[in-house]
Amino acid sequence: MDRLERALEKARQKRATLRAVPAQDNARTAILPAPNSLSPDDERRLDAYRIVAHRPRSQKADIYRQLRTKVLHKMNASGFKTLAVTSPYYGDGKTTVTLNLGISLALDLKQTVLLVDLDLRKPCLHRPLNLTPQAGLTDYLLRQKPLVDCLLRPPFERISLLPAGPASEQSSELLASPKMINLAHELKTRYADRFVLYDMPPVLAQDDSIAFLPQVDAILVVIRDGVTKIDDLKRCLNALSGANVIGTVLNNCW
Ligand SMILES: Nc1ncnc2c1ncn2[C@@H]1O[C@H](COP(=O)(O)OP(=O)(O)OP(=O)(O)O)[C@@H](O)[C@H]1O
Ligand SMILES: [Mg+2]
Repeated sequence: MDRLERALEKARQKRATLRAVPAQDNARTAILPAPNSLSPDDERRLDAYRIVAHRPRSQKADIYRQLRTKVLHKMNASGFKTLAVTSPYYGDGKTTVTLNLGISLALDLKQTVLLVDLDLRKPCLHRPLNLTPQAGLTDYLLRQKPLVDCLLRPPFERISLLPAGPASEQSSELLASPKMINLAHELKTRYADRFVLYDMPPVLAQDDSIAFLPQVDAILVVIRDGVTKIDDLKRCLNALSGANVIGTVLNNCW
């Protein structure tokens, strides 16, 4: 074998070795959060906002993995794809649960996740992720901004985020508008493997949730341990009667 043939043979063997890497390993690399995509500042910020679901060895992340499994079980059994997270009042933990559940769902390999901020009066779903929206849902609904120009990519694989856009006082009218109803339908049906999670305002403090909830498949109600009164939970569930509440999350336990 002369030098040229030896070089060609070596190149052939190298290509064969590369092809021999198990497909599963490639798949696993592809779905995990991009390594080093979170800076120490990002980690500190996520910590401060109690976003923990991405941590591989964490009891708090395990709690969200358990929630994910229960949610998936109920949603898959009925072919549901869209889930709204709401609660009786402000500050119960809706945004925290939405983000953690969304991250946990996206780590599960089988689906992509779209997080949508429907708290149009007080948009904040993007904040823990340190994202700065240039446009959002209210721009799409009121100012004909193309949806694709509103979407953000958080530093996690398989998740996109549709921010609320500039705050609007017409929030319940916007959420019940034909354009929003069409969008909800489009988001539900566009991709078979995509979950849509809506971060909602509270049920007993605003009527926004009630106006929009007929558009979602299922609802998760967050209640605050030691704070939510039984009467308020009953009034909240009563206001949601007729909607498909798949469960409650007892938050504030850590
Ligand atoms: N399990 C928890 N333990 C301790 N603090 C928590 C927990 N969950 C959320 N918090 C904190 O409580 C505050 C309110 O949480 P969050 O913003 O998620 O609530 P919210 O229901 O979305 O509020 P709003 O109705 O104002 O949108 C935040 O500072 C959050 O970091
Ligand atoms: Mg919130």
